Amino acid sequence: MRIAVVGSGYVGLVAGACFADLGHDVVLVDNDERKLAALNNGQVPIHEKFLPELLTRHRGHRLTFSDNLKEAVRLSSVIFVAVGTPPTESGEADLSYVESVAREISGGIDSYKVIVEKSTVPVYTSEWVRKIVLRNGADPELFDVASNPEFLREGTAVTDFLFPDRILIGCDAERSAAVLREIYAPLTDGSYYERADAIPKPDRASVPPPLIVTSTKSAELIKHASNAFLAMKISFINAVASVCESVGADVHQVVHGVGTDSRIGSRFLNPGIGYGGSCFPKDVMAFRSVARECGYDFRLLDEVMRINDDQRQRFLRKVRSALWTLRGKNIAVLGLAFKGGTDDIRESPALFLVQALLQEGSKIRAYDPAAMERTREILGSSITFANSPYEAAAGADALLILTEWEEFAGLDLQRLRQDLKYPIVIDGRNLYDPEVMAAHGFTYYSIGRAASHPDGVPAAFLKNGKKA
Ligand code: UGA
Repeated sequence: MRIAVVGSGYVGLVAGACFADLGHDVVLVDNDERKLAALNNGQVPIHEKFLPELLTRHRGHRLTFSDNLKEAVRLSSVIFVAVGTPPTESGEADLSYVESVAREISGGIDSYKVIVEKSTVPVYTSEWVRKIVLRNGADPELFDVASNPEFLREGTAVTDFLFPDRILIGCDAERSAAVLREIYAPLTDGSYYERADAIPKPDRASVPPPLIVTSTKSAELIKHASNAFLAMKISFINAVASVCESVGADVHQVVHGVGTDSRIGSRFLNPGIGYGGSCFPKDVMAFRSVARECGYDFRLLDEVMRINDDQRQRFLRKVRSALWTLRGKNIAVLGLAFKGGTDDIRESPALFLVQALLQEGSKIRAYDPAAMERTREILGSSITFANSPYEAAAGADALLILTEWEEFAGLDLQRLRQDLKYPIVIDGRNLYDPEVMAAHGFTYYSIGRAASHPDGVPAAFLKNGKKA
C-alpha cells in the first residue's frame, strides 16, 4: 500500500516508520525544511526506543520524506493526517493545521483516496474535513474520510504502535474500512510477529490485537474519552494519596487493594506530581470544551484538572515544609522530562516545579538522562546542569525526584547520602521505600505516605546522615 503521512511530529514519525516496517511504502510530508533535512541526513529528532533502528532500516527505501503534499497525495491511496492540534487560549483544539492540510489534499485527489485523521481531534472533525475537501473541488466519489486514533505513549511509542491493545478504525463507508483493514493486516493476522526481524514483543502485549470498527464520530470520541479516563484515574489516586497523608495510610497499599479488583486494575494508578505531557492536559481541556459545545456540562473533567494543578502545589508545600525557607537553598533535581523514557518537556510537572522554585529564589542543579538539552533551550543558564545524579546532589540542601526514570530508582544510596549536604530526599514519584530510605540515613518525603526519618531524628540535626 502507498501511504502518505502528513506531519512528522511524534505520532506522524512513529506511524510512518512503523507502517514502513509493516511493508508499506510511506512518504512522510512536512513543511518544515529543517526537519526534513535532518531526517534525510539520518538524524532522529526524538528520543524513542527502536525508532532509530526503524529509520535506519527504511529511510530512502520504504520511507521517504517530502515537502510536496499534493504530489504525495497523488502517489498514495491513503493519507494519514498527523499534524498538531494545539490548544487555543480557551482550551479548544486549534484545527487550523488540519484545515489547511485538508484544503491542500483536495488538489491532489485524482483517484480514490482515504483521508485518515491520526491526530487527536474533537468529534465532528471528520465531517469538517469532508466539507473542506468538497468545497475545494474534490469529487465526492473519489474520497472518504476516516478516523484512526493512535494510543501510543511517548517512550514506548514504537512498541505501542506495533503491539497495541486494540486498533481502532472509525469509518462511515465499507470501502474505506477495507483499505484500513488491509494496512493493519500484518498485525491483525499475526504475520508481522512471526518475522525474524520484527521489533521484540513487550512482556505485557498479547498478539494479534483486535481491530475495532466504529463510526468516525465514535472513534473520535473514543480517543478523547480514553485520555480523559486515564487522566481521571491519575487524579483520582492523587486525591486518595492526599487523604492517605491526612490519616497516615500508605497509598501503595491502597492501590494494591483497589487495583487487584479486575474491574478497576492497577495501571495508571501511580500517585505523583500530576500528569503532564502534550496529550492529557490538552485533551482533557479539549474534551471539556467539546462537551460544553455539544450541550453537556462535563464538570467531572474540571475536577480532574483542578486536582492535577493542586498536586503540584501540594508538592511545593512539601518542599517548603522540609526546608523551611527556599531563598538561596541549593536544590538538586532529578528529572525534567514530563515522564521517564522521553526527552519531551511539554507541560512537564517537573519543569513547572523547577520554575516555581527558581521564583522563590532557590538555586537548582538538575540532571535528566534525555531532557537537559531541551530544558536548556527554555531555562538557559538559570539552572545548572549536572552529568549524573550524584553530581546534581553534591553539596545540595535536598534532592527532589521529579521524573520516574528507571535509573533514578536504582541509585547508590550510600553515595547519595555522602554527596548531599543534608540527607533530605523529596520524591514526587514514590521510587523508594520509606523504610529503606530511613535505614540509609535519609529523611524521606513522598506522595501519599508518611515521611520517614533515620532514628526519628529531624533532618535539620543531621549532616551527611549522621548526628551533628
Ligand atoms: C498518553 C496516553 O497514555 C496514550 O495512550 C495516548 O496515545 C497519548 O497520551 C496521546 O494521546 O498521544 P503520554 O502522554 O505519552 O501518553 O504519556 P503517559 O504515559 O500516559 O503519561 C502521561 C502523564 O501521566 C505523565 O506525566 C506521567 O508521569 C503521568 N502518570 C502516568 C502518572 O502520574 N501516574 C500514572 O499512573 C501514569
